[in-house]
Amino acid sequence: MSGPLQDRVVVVTGAGQGIGRAHALAIAAAGATVLIAERDASRGEAVAEEVEAAGGRAEARRVDVTSHDEIAAVASSWIEAYGRIDGLVNNAALFSTITMRPFWEIPVTEWDDVLAVNVRGPWAVTAALLPGLRASGSASVVNIGSDAVWLGRPGYLHYVVSKAGVAGMTHSMAHELGGEGIRVNTVSPGPVYTEIERGTVTAEQKAAMRSAQALPRDAGPEDITGPVVFLLSDAAGFVTGQTLHVDGGLIHR
Ligand SMILES: NC(=O)c1ccc[n+]([C@@H]2O[C@H](COP(=O)([O-])OP(=O)(O)OC[C@H]3O[C@@H](n4cnc5c(N)ncnc54)[C@H](O)[C@@H]3O)[C@@H](O)[C@H]2O)c1
Repeated sequence: MSGPLQDRVVVVTGAGQGIGRAHALAIAAAGATVLIAERDASRGEAVAEEVEAAGGRAEARRVDVTSHDEIAAVASSWIEAYGRIDGLVNNAALFSTITMRPFWEIPVTEWDDVLAVNVRGPWAVTAALLPGLRASGSASVVNIGSDAVWLGRPGYLHYVVSKAGVAGMTHSMAHELGGEGIRVNTVSPGPVYTEIERGTVTAEQKAAMRSAQALPRDAGPEDITGPVVFLLSDAAGFVTGQTLHVDGGLIHR
């Protein structure tokens, strides 16, 4: 496989299903070796096999992004094995399993879990991989945010707050790492429909968001992968600290 990520080494978290799986396939198709960090070991392995069956290179490891120990162990073994990390896609999140409910009914344990995976996770994974990112010379981190922040979507306040945190983290990380030539951006999708059924959008909300988009069609994972590959590549060499809304024109900021 060859393309804009030729011979790069790129870590994707939460690549066992949905949009993360699509990122793994697209990043490998663009020429990179994909390192999958996924809490569900068998799903991560299955996607690595899928990448290899398509002619790409991939390796999967079981990682829970809320576990500092697991992150540290995998990060140091990958940095030792590959010598550098050229790209990181912080995609893992509690999302499709969330139950929609008014914010005053969210259990406190669920609030803490969502914040731990969706905000502490990208921070901890990026920090653990920094020695590898520094060794790259042209490293790029892409954090996956969500337009739910700008839409003020009701029903999952902990998720909205977590993705607002991701947007803020991106901008600050970009400033802290820019002097070392490491870029950090957020890709913020609107609603994206994957193979996974979920309860985070009702049929009415789905129709309303589709008709509010400038491009009034449903998005699939393949609509998100191209912008992520672009931000990982040298073509985006002067792009950092940005939130790129990939939403068919749903919001305008
Ligand atoms: N699908 C959408 O409409 C949409 C819209 C905007 C943003 N997003 C974001 O895009 C990303 C992918 O979305 P999706 O629809 O594929 O979600 P998903 O819920 O289908 O998949 C999430 C993946 O993350 C993994 N994961 C969860 N917790 C983990 C942990 N602690 N450690 C490691 N892996 C963990 C899961 O096992 C799963 O493979 C997420 O960051 C999500 O918030 C999705």
